[in-house]
Amino acid sequence: MKVVFLAPNYPPEMQQYTRGLAEVGATVYGVGDAPVGSLPGSLKQHLSDYLQVPRILDEEDVVARVHAWLRGREVDRVLANWEVLVLTAAKLRERFGLPGMSVDTVEGFRDKKLMKERVAAAGLRTPQAERVRTEREVRAAVERIGYPICLKPIAGAGSADTYRLDGPDDLERVLPKMRHVPEASCEEFIVAEEFTFDTVCIEGRPAYTNITQYLPPPLIARSEQWVSPVIITVKDMTQPKLAAGIELGHGVLKALNMGSGFTHMEWFRKADGEVVFGEIGCRPGGAHIVDQMNYTSDIDLFREWARVVCHGRFEAPTTRKYNAAIIFKRAKGEGRITRVEGLTEFMRRYGEHVVEQKLLPVGAHRRDWKQTLLSDGHILLRHPDWDTAKRLAEIVATDVHLYAGG
Ligand SMILES: Nc1ncnc2c1ncn2[C@@H]1O[C@H](COP(=O)(O)OP(=O)(O)O)[C@@H](O)[C@H]1O
Ligand SMILES: [Mg+2]
Repeated sequence: MKVVFLAPNYPPEMQQYTRGLAEVGATVYGVGDAPVGSLPGSLKQHLSDYLQVPRILDEEDVVARVHAWLRGREVDRVLANWEVLVLTAAKLRERFGLPGMSVDTVEGFRDKKLMKERVAAAGLRTPQAERVRTEREVRAAVERIGYPICLKPIAGAGSADTYRLDGPDDLERVLPKMRHVPEASCEEFIVAEEFTFDTVCIEGRPAYTNITQYLPPPLIARSEQWVSPVIITVKDMTQPKLAAGIELGHGVLKALNMGSGFTHMEWFRKADGEVVFGEIGCRPGGAHIVDQMNYTSDIDLFREWARVVCHGRFEAPTTRKYNAAIIFKRAKGEGRITRVEGLTEFMRRYGEHVVEQKLLPVGAHRRDWKQTLLSDGHILLRHPDWDTAKRLAEIVATDVHLYAGG
């Protein structure tokens, strides 16, 4: 089995998928923009060959270079697990006549407008939405849809330039901030709890499924600096509260003609129980969600994904043992981390439940919380009881503090 894997080094978890591919017996050809000399040895040992391209996001250029590079060689798969490259992989597959999801199918997971159209056409609930390009179009759409409104870029990511509008004052405040966005989606704002539905699929059939809850919803976590974003995998996926969301998830996979690989969907559950589709990608979620799933079931999904896409089999147990909670922390102040408070006490009392403590250490430069979901590091903990896992996560959120500055 010979596999071309795009961007094997970045984002960092791609190195884990490369390892997984090698572990299930694949010969891995990597394509990335990092010089081969800069790749860590732990990654290089799993690569049989590597093509450095000048710009990994230049789709046409990457397709042409990979085509020339592989001339005369047989390959069986072209794969990517990074959102910005899933379409490039599909284009390469079509060029080489390889199995896997087509360009048209992958478009349904990449283009948010097309995605919603296909999901809605299958009779599934999506937020009422209109594509808008000018202030006048926004005002007209707001008029038709009514407050509260969600205004966000069509080609958005990470909640950037995304706003909740509760009335005309918000509209006037936000419109000037949206001027650099060429095309936006003006939507009915769904006031709800927000969850993910994640799968590893074999030809559209989920071999592994997962739900996590966002606490609070990403839009709030990304707008309020002093929130510590928490994401918890739900151990008990059989609880009635989640049934409609799971059904929605399966419906969406069908509507979009999912093939083999990871999916990461976001969905809403309103107080009255109604569930609403948010968005979906045909790749794993970011921000350590795959690690969380691995800690939930004590498995290695990096390797199981590889087995699925190479051999069509999923061999790990799917039993869910824990609710795995990740808590992201943001330092107060700018510059380098000077002090961490509350951590020693938390670890003394609850350390047995902590599986990763990766807060930035004293002396490290703090990150820009607006730019990265990862904030200034995280604690990952797990517990078989949901309420306990949630309570421990809340303690980390409120009682552990990082400080930066001079
Ligand atoms: N129609 C909506 N109603 C309520 N909240 C929304 C809506 N659309 C987006 N959001 C909020 O904004 C966040 C980001 O929007 P999303 O569509 O997931 O785009 P992206 O994650 O690519 O930035 C969501 O996780 C959710 O919290
Ligand atoms: Mg999203």
